[in-house]
Amino acid sequence: RYYVPQFQRDARFKQLDGEDVDFFRGVVGEGGVLTDEKEVAPYNLDWMGIYKGECPLVLKPRTVGETQRVLKYCNDQRIAVVPQGGNTGLVGGSVPTFDEVVLSLANLNKIISFDESTGVLHCQAGCVLESLYQHVEERGFTMPIDLGAKGSCHIGGNVSTNAGGLRYLRYGPLSGSVLGLEVVKADGTRVDMTSLLRKDNTGYKAHQLFIGAEGTLGVVTAVTMICPFKSSSVQLCLFQCDSFDKVVQAATECRRRMSDIISAVEFFDRSALEMVTTHIPGSRDPFQSASPFYLLVETSGQDEACDYARVEKLVGKLIEDETVTDGVYAENATQIQEFWKLRESIGPAMGHAGKVYKYDITLPLTGMYHIVELLKERLKGIPGHTCVGYGHLGDSNLHINVLAEDLSACQQLEAALEPFIWDYIKSVKGSVSAEHGLGVMKADKITAANEMAHVELMRELKRLLDPNGILNPYKVMR
Ligand code: FAD
Ligand code: MLT
Ligand code: ZN
Repeated sequence: RYYVPQFQRDARFKQLDGEDVDFFRGVVGEGGVLTDEKEVAPYNLDWMGIYKGECPLVLKPRTVGETQRVLKYCNDQRIAVVPQGGNTGLVGGSVPTFDEVVLSLANLNKIISFDESTGVLHCQAGCVLESLYQHVEERGFTMPIDLGAKGSCHIGGNVSTNAGGLRYLRYGPLSGSVLGLEVVKADGTRVDMTSLLRKDNTGYKAHQLFIGAEGTLGVVTAVTMICPFKSSSVQLCLFQCDSFDKVVQAATECRRRMSDIISAVEFFDRSALEMVTTHIPGSRDPFQSASPFYLLVETSGQDEACDYARVEKLVGKLIEDETVTDGVYAENATQIQEFWKLRESIGPAMGHAGKVYKYDITLPLTGMYHIVELLKERLKGIPGHTCVGYGHLGDSNLHINVLAEDLSACQQLEAALEPFIWDYIKSVKGSVSAEHGLGVMKADKITAANEMAHVELMRELKRLLDPNGILNPYKVMR
């Protein structure tokens, strides 16, 4: 059931002994060192229940100073470390592969400041995304990133994966909203690159190196970022389309006509919706009849009456010219949540149902769904599986999830899925990781995905910042 690494534990790393544990207790206190098997277990298992480490000890520093002392010691002793936020990562990057120590940032969870005129937020890395939402929304702002895991993921984890999500179309990559970071290097040095300034061209943007580095270059301890104003008018429509071409056509029309207020363009297929309505309590299909494709379009503006009229007019046009077969409009905040739940619950619904093979890819938008059709055909005849397609259509980011309800079919499924998918992505010049990163799952893909000199530059940076390779080994590149 669990992933089995096809490589050996790096023998350069020290196995923990009693002296190490005593040292850690001296730094982070009794409460900051977890050794009880039951307490440690959740830190060893990833969200998908596929990647399982054997870390004997979890460290939970309460201050940046403690984080520094822990890392300096680990570096001196050659103890491998996995930085962990909310442990919602989807590529096996947040848990140990062997016996690396987990360094949880959960106790660094303070909001340091929020400027109500500029929207600049300064907070510690362990702040849960949803709590940041609450804080800034009470002050008339919102967060530039939103994802289904917001109730558990940390801003430090979001930054370290450069997470995409549901607002990417509107606010762009998270790296564009981050103004600066505070980072602790592998040797324990604290580098304060936080900045409250929106414009600041005084040297290299070194903090950008740590965004999307998946904990392999340093430990992020604090973040400064810019938050946009909250919209007072949110409109949400769910459409049915009878072909993927029509989905793209409808999405393009929505973006063209409402480019100033559009905030999300997402899609899912019928199988994805059925997974949600079957496995997620309280979810229901709002339409009378079934359809092969669903398109979710959200606008966020400041003028309710005007936005409503524009959206209503557009819905009428799309139905009239048969770009969409039907459309429903979320009438109130509860319905907005209900529709979003249908989209956000696809991943969790698949997870409830069995072992899932997850692909997070970028493809040219036109014909993006073709690979799902090819896969459905290839997988025909393999018992106990479901193949679904969904994703961030506005960013040409397709998620393909293949569920194995029957574990005995896994070998057959794996053989049919790979290398077929990777070859297909290469043939259309797509990306093997649109937003989830590489982790341990796709660390062997870095060379195929990048030019040799680019990979060598990445290796040089890794050697420079973490010469002993203690930070999240086996992840991103091997
Ligand atoms: P973790 O899972 O704990 O860690 C992720 C990686 O970052 C690991 O490599 C870890 O070592 C590193 N890391 C964590 N914290 C730090 C730190 N402080 N310093 C250095 N390294 C650190 N992703 C998307 O891009 N878009 C989505 O729409 C999306 N939706 C999701 C929906 C669900 C239901 C789930 C479960 C996941 C989803 N994800 C999505 C995956 C996504 O990467 C994470 O949810 C999130 O960004 C990770 O944050 P985390 O705090 O849980 O990090
Ligand atoms: C999503 O878009 O729902 C996420 O990336 C998570 C997932 O695919 O499971
Ligand atoms: Zn996604």
